[in-house]
Amino acid sequence: MRHLINITDFTPEEIVELLDLGDRMIADPAQWRSSQQGRILATLFFEPSTRTRLSFESAMQSLGGSTLGFATADSSSTTKGESLLDTISTVSCYSDIIAMRHPREGAPVAAALKSRVPVINAGDGGHNHPTQTLTDMMTIRRRKGVLDGLTIGVCGDLKFGRTVHSLLDAMSRCPGNRFVLISPPELRVPSYVTDMLQSRGSRYTEVESMEAAMAQLDVLYMTRVQRERFFNEADYVRLKDTYILTPEKLAGARDDLIVMHPLPRVNEIDTRVDDDPRAVYFEQVRNGRFVRMALIQKMLEDWA
Ligand code: NCD
Repeated sequence: MRHLINITDFTPEEIVELLDLGDRMIADPAQWRSSQQGRILATLFFEPSTRTRLSFESAMQSLGGSTLGFATADSSSTTKGESLLDTISTVSCYSDIIAMRHPREGAPVAAALKSRVPVINAGDGGHNHPTQTLTDMMTIRRRKGVLDGLTIGVCGDLKFGRTVHSLLDAMSRCPGNRFVLISPPELRVPSYVTDMLQSRGSRYTEVESMEAAMAQLDVLYMTRVQRERFFNEADYVRLKDTYILTPEKLAGARDDLIVMHPLPRVNEIDTRVDDDPRAVYFEQVRNGRFVRMALIQKMLEDWA
């Protein structure tokens, strides 16, 4: 049985197959209307979410399947003291596939050991978020036509931002990508991420200035400072507005730059940027639904 815990659980070839299927689903969604009829997706969210949970539910329903689950830990038996593993053993009796989000790093690995059905990691603490990365890769490929040879700026909270860790993991497997890691010193990527980049021979630089990096970028991936992972509020307040992307700052960027963000945004992208044709964060939202349709279809059919 296949699970999706880290993006590297899929080979680069499998990811391309998934993105191809996602593109076909965008082109002709009606063709897939009943492909998962009778199947059930469980969404177990022990942490808040808008897009990830709803896009999973929308995806399964668009495939003719149905969904059940909970959106907050406090509406589940977790509040009575039930362990995660008992919850998973239970829910895997009621469903054919599980998407789960949990504040603890590694929780989905433990869940996968116990589950009778495939488990998808929908975000584990400050660690990984592989399905956001599929969304991001689909958006990059649809906009840039390729997944390789790009200069990718990643800006903001690179320490706790799980979408960043998974994106770097995936894009450093594609040849010729170069990374500009833009953050304050306190929020640099963890050393296991730089070790990974080095072991793959990826070129990267760690810098503090977004403005200085701007002109060379093909992709600018903005992120939110992850307040819920901070140990004290004072540090959060000090760092939260380090980067705010405005139309003025974009003036020095390439015409074919794409500006990405996994959302939710707080302050880090001025809403005036939304009207710039280079802003693709709401396209990411749309692609997230289709790539999750492709993921469910592959995991329950071709890779089952
Ligand atoms: C991200 C997450 O949950 O990690 N959101 C998402 O899933 N699209 C990013 C974030 O919360 O900042």
